[in-house]
Amino acid sequence: MWGLRGLARFSFGVESQKQSRFATTTSAIKGQIGNKTAKAAKESKSFQAIQEEKREQAERSVLISCPAKINENKFLDYLSKHGAVNKHFFYNSYGAYAVVEFSSRESIASLKESTNIPAVQHEAAVPFKSRLLSLKWTGPGSQSGNHPMPNFKEQSPPSINEIIQLLSEQDSVDQQMQHLTEAFQLTEENISLRFLVCSLLRDITATYFPESIIMPFGSTVNSFGKLGCDLDMFLDIDGSYASGQRMFKQGSGMSLEYQVKRGASERVVTQSILSVIGECVDKFGPGCVGVQKILQARCPLVRFAHQPSGFQCDLTANNRVAMKSSELLFLYGQLDPRVRQLVFSVRCWARVHSITSSIPGPWITNFSLTVMVLFFLQQRSPPILPTLDQLKELAGPSDKCVIEENDCTIVSDLSKIALQNNTDTLAKLLQEFFEFYGNFPFKASINIRKGKEQNKPETAALHIQNPFETTLNISKNVNATQLERFVGLCRESAWLLQQRDVLDRSSSQSAESVSPWGFAALLLPSVTSGAGVKSRRKRKLEPASSRIKNLLDSLKIKGGETVAKEGSVNPRR
Ligand code: GTP
Ligand code: MG
Repeated sequence: MWGLRGLARFSFGVESQKQSRFATTTSAIKGQIGNKTAKAAKESKSFQAIQEEKREQAERSVLISCPAKINENKFLDYLSKHGAVNKHFFYNSYGAYAVVEFSSRESIASLKESTNIPAVQHEAAVPFKSRLLSLKWTGPGSQSGNHPMPNFKEQSPPSINEIIQLLSEQDSVDQQMQHLTEAFQLTEENISLRFLVCSLLRDITATYFPESIIMPFGSTVNSFGKLGCDLDMFLDIDGSYASGQRMFKQGSGMSLEYQVKRGASERVVTQSILSVIGECVDKFGPGCVGVQKILQARCPLVRFAHQPSGFQCDLTANNRVAMKSSELLFLYGQLDPRVRQLVFSVRCWARVHSITSSIPGPWITNFSLTVMVLFFLQQRSPPILPTLDQLKELAGPSDKCVIEENDCTIVSDLSKIALQNNTDTLAKLLQEFFEFYGNFPFKASINIRKGKEQNKPETAALHIQNPFETTLNISKNVNATQLERFVGLCRESAWLLQQRDVLDRSSSQSAESVSPWGFAALLLPSVTSGAGVKSRRKRKLEPASSRIKNLLDSLKIKGGETVAKEGSVNPRR
């Protein structure tokens, strides 16, 4: 079952899918790095160009709720009366929906001309004419006939059981990690839907701020997003982030200024703007429910659920550094296919073992975990990734970027980055990632700007320097208990990956089925940390779980801390 669903999804992923997916040998990886990465980097568009293109496509698009038995041909015929349809796709989210992208914006105006405000009984409608529409069949027999059903694109991630099964069927750990990435990564359709939701929201903010732009940031655009991740949005009030810096217009001898209201600080102004926008989203935004204004947070935000897309949305303003961090992560993700594959695998492993959580708390976040993977890849010999300082040195004059006195300059032209010839397999990187952090001296700070551990400026359990706001610690929230759990699980996973029984696919295979092995075995409940996920999968996966339990019986447990068998995990350096 899963195989078919998965295969369907594999055919429409993002950029990385152009790269060879199934290289497992060192020489194959060497080829990828030597040729494909450099080539892909040269051919790839800049982060800004990609964002701009997707934003423009979203402005030419509409989101339509459709009857369950939609006749695709009739639907397209009907819409094409308003202009050529460039692309469209259907998906299910408590009902059928279609995303339709027209070739020209004029089509949207024409479509809106022929769209009605619904007549509602016993209630009244807010007559806000958005691009979220509902299709009703009115003609005779429009729904009847034996027409084929359209292909509905999947928008949810596979379940962990489906993933374990898929991975267990692969032939190597490298293949497992590649398949995991392909199964979890955002599809092109899902990314389009995310940009469309930003664009729909922008129609609301534009009533007050006509030049405003809403841009997605975080995992939607940084190339590490998993299906089902939240939609982080940045409200750029006057479009100055997208167009470069604010321009100061000067006439000959005279200049005009807008008269403006003033607030005590940028933060106060941001809070008041978000407060009004939050109110509008709540009262006028079709499909936006559960609106919460979280204005006292370090980064004030409006949180809501967008029902038609199923996205949990966080709208922030004045958050340009986070936008730049997304660009940085995207850049690292493009440099070598192993970066995304290792990040997806580590994020999945961490989520399964409740190292990360969707609820805020003293847990390591996905953002911190991603930076930890990048740091590890900078430490390889030779390094797989350059340091942030090196990315800054390669920047040209047009890359100069200072945000709130933080120098956020990084090179945008990937072809300027010379990569070293590191041929480590994914299996090796995964094993050594666990060893690296299983033995890391956490009294030091993790610093991807220097690519080296630095002295820790504060007493936080885990210190990861914020890449651009260098005085801040992105993992300040993490407490000692959560860090210990992470270290313990790293050690356990490193140890498991050294056991022949875990690594050998043939010993997991019977006539009818394959038990979880390799990376899939690491997704089984931890024997030593008692993670909450245990009961969820216990029954189904018991045979492999007990097999691994036997292996782990040789681990010594001292005061709740996992200590690997002597010699089984190499101390770092
Ligand atoms: P998901 O868990 O998939 O949503 O990953 P994400 O990268 O989108 O993380 P999240 O939604 O928590 O945050 C969105 C973005 O905000 C991140 O990608 C970062 O750019 C930024 N961010 C998150 N946490 C911090 C932090 O502690 N400090 C700073 N400076 N930026 C952060
Ligand atoms: Mg996010």
